[in-house]
Amino acid sequence: MDIKKVIVTGRMYKDLEKLALMDTKREYKFLPEAEVSSNDFDWADGYVAFKPTDSFHFGKLQWVHTLGAGVDSFLFNREWKKDVLLTRTVGSFGRKISEYCLSYILADVQRHGIFQQYQTERQWLPSQQKLLQQLNIVIFGTGTIGEEVARMLRTFGVTVYGVSRSGASNCHFNRVLPITEVHDLLALADWVINTLPLTPITEGLFEMRLLSCMHGAGFINVGRGASVDENALIEAIERGSVRRAVLDVFREEPLPAQSPFWSHPNVVITPHISAVTGLDEAIDSLLAVLGEMDSGQERISNSVDVNRGY
Ligand code: GLV
Repeated sequence: MDIKKVIVTGRMYKDLEKLALMDTKREYKFLPEAEVSSNDFDWADGYVAFKPTDSFHFGKLQWVHTLGAGVDSFLFNREWKKDVLLTRTVGSFGRKISEYCLSYILADVQRHGIFQQYQTERQWLPSQQKLLQQLNIVIFGTGTIGEEVARMLRTFGVTVYGVSRSGASNCHFNRVLPITEVHDLLALADWVINTLPLTPITEGLFEMRLLSCMHGAGFINVGRGASVDENALIEAIERGSVRRAVLDVFREEPLPAQSPFWSHPNVVITPHISAVTGLDEAIDSLLAVLGEMDSGQERISNSVDVNRGY
């Protein structure tokens, strides 16, 4: 694929200007989102950003590269033009999300919140903590991120189950089940982690029936907010099937001020930071894709299957 003219936009556009010095084979336009016009898409054959601008259309584009791991802002509810290649950044997201999840799971088993409370009350109340190796954790999504979370948790002896569309086995998990067969397993889970991409199949997946199968599990969402029925989650927390929720992603972001999640004592909110793209990994990933295209490689690494949506 011969890419000659590239638009780069989004929050990193200024920092990415150094790309023009590293890659003199192409012409680049580095623009803030609001300044990308419809005409720019009739000029460029490549587009690099976190999401489409309001002015986005396929124009002359042959290649789109997202600076994040998720591709739903490009594919979800959009008819993709078949011959346009979509590639994504993978970088160290698996590692970052693993450490994010581990931090909340470990703080929970070690009862940080409870001991902090006891301290304010000057109470001396010993108790015995569980070990990580006593936990069963169910991870929805067995792709590069889910796999890395599983790998890390298993080094601590956690029993890790994976859930995927096909249920195909994967050496990083003790066992993988298809989404349709997960209900009984959820009753055993100490934690359930969602790493799934947003697709028509995963939209609203965590609804009342599924959440009710949990018996006091913690729930971490590092996938996409729209995979969760947010009212059902609040109800599941009230009923106790979900003991606490750690949420990094929401159907609407920033989370609206009136959301009941903000003030719920059993909900932890973080502002979509479990895996933020670093400048170095953005550049490395882009240069790797360009290098593969320039060398005529047929199947570009980190290209997205636009029919599956991830
Ligand atoms: C973050 O959510 C990403 O898609 O990289």
